[in-house]
Amino acid sequence: MKGLILSGGKGTRLYPITFNRAKQLVPVANKPVLFRVIEAIKEAGIDDIGIVIGDTGSEIRQAVDNGKRWGVKITYIPQDAPLGLAHAVKISQEFLGDDRFVMFLGDNVIQGGISNLIRQFSSSDWNSQVVLTEVDQPQHYGVAELDDQGRIRRLVEKPRNPPSNLALVGIYMFDHHIFEAVHAIKPSWRGELEITDAIQWLVENNYQVHPYVHRGWWIDTGKPIDMLEANNRVLAELEHRVDGYVDRDSKVDHLVTIERGAEIINSVIRGPAIIGEDVRIVNSYVGPFTSIYHHTLIEDSEIEHSIVLDHSRIVGIPSRIEDSIIGRDVEVTYSPIKPKAYKMTLGDHSRVGLL
Ligand code: DAU
Repeated sequence: MKGLILSGGKGTRLYPITFNRAKQLVPVANKPVLFRVIEAIKEAGIDDIGIVIGDTGSEIRQAVDNGKRWGVKITYIPQDAPLGLAHAVKISQEFLGDDRFVMFLGDNVIQGGISNLIRQFSSSDWNSQVVLTEVDQPQHYGVAELDDQGRIRRLVEKPRNPPSNLALVGIYMFDHHIFEAVHAIKPSWRGELEITDAIQWLVENNYQVHPYVHRGWWIDTGKPIDMLEANNRVLAELEHRVDGYVDRDSKVDHLVTIERGAEIINSVIRGPAIIGEDVRIVNSYVGPFTSIYHHTLIEDSEIEHSIVLDHSRIVGIPSRIEDSIIGRDVEVTYSPIKPKAYKMTLGDHSRVGLL
């Protein structure tokens, strides 16, 4: 089997974090979501992987390179514009050939990996297997309606009146018949070739599409709140280790990972949390469900339930920072200089909640 990861698109819902960078490279528990996807596919025994890339392709090529780090072979498939998930399959036909394949959306995180799903699909004669899970707001997803025997009756993309609460998770398995489908369907109201419509075409044309209902957690990291949720989930399941330095005046519990080169000085860290490479935490408190990415400084400040990206500085903030995503190379500092005021340089699409 082959793997196909979709890593194009624009990521507008994660602005400003993804204003000038690929959303699939935003780290969750200090590892880019895309790297987690590659690892899940490799773990399922697949080492020939295509990655569909768009505007942010050069950043993705730079981060993933030839895949050697994971022991996989990567083929990049450029997509001129985000014309839909089925369009991405269409342009990948040459790479996929007649092989069965798994398609994984590069911004999805799923509990438990995909090894069982792949095993089940490879030993079956199904033409496709889709993964479904119960969600609270099905109107934001592709939605499946099943019949009494648990077979797929109908699939519809982001329906105004959802026929069920079973959403299509961003993991799909196909054989070569999917190419007939992606060539047969027409763009949807949002101008995209929808993979949901392509699978519906398979169902209507009597191909076997097997629905698997996933019972663990699954997160599409499309919005900032989802990013924090994914961070919580992954941090809670991480095996923690201390590779950095913790001084005698600090308190770090067993649910905290301290990466290589990090220094914790006179601080308290309560897990689950992860402190990245060469980070310095000085006279500070880092609370549960927080990920601090590489080369960042937290000094005389308190932060919890947040993600801070690399090369940022948070210094001397008098009240605790919570529920926040702080980008790369950001400075949040306290200034005693009068007049007493908030002084900000915020990029387009920033969000700040002030007291
Ligand atoms: O996350 C699950 C949902 O993913 C499914 O329930 C929906 O049925 C499916 O259509 C899809 O919906 P989204 O609206 O969330 O898809 P999004 O536009 O966010 O794209 C998903 C990933 O695919 C993302 O990593 C970007 C990439 N992509 C997207 C498009 C439209 C491409 O590589 N090329 C594209 O043309």
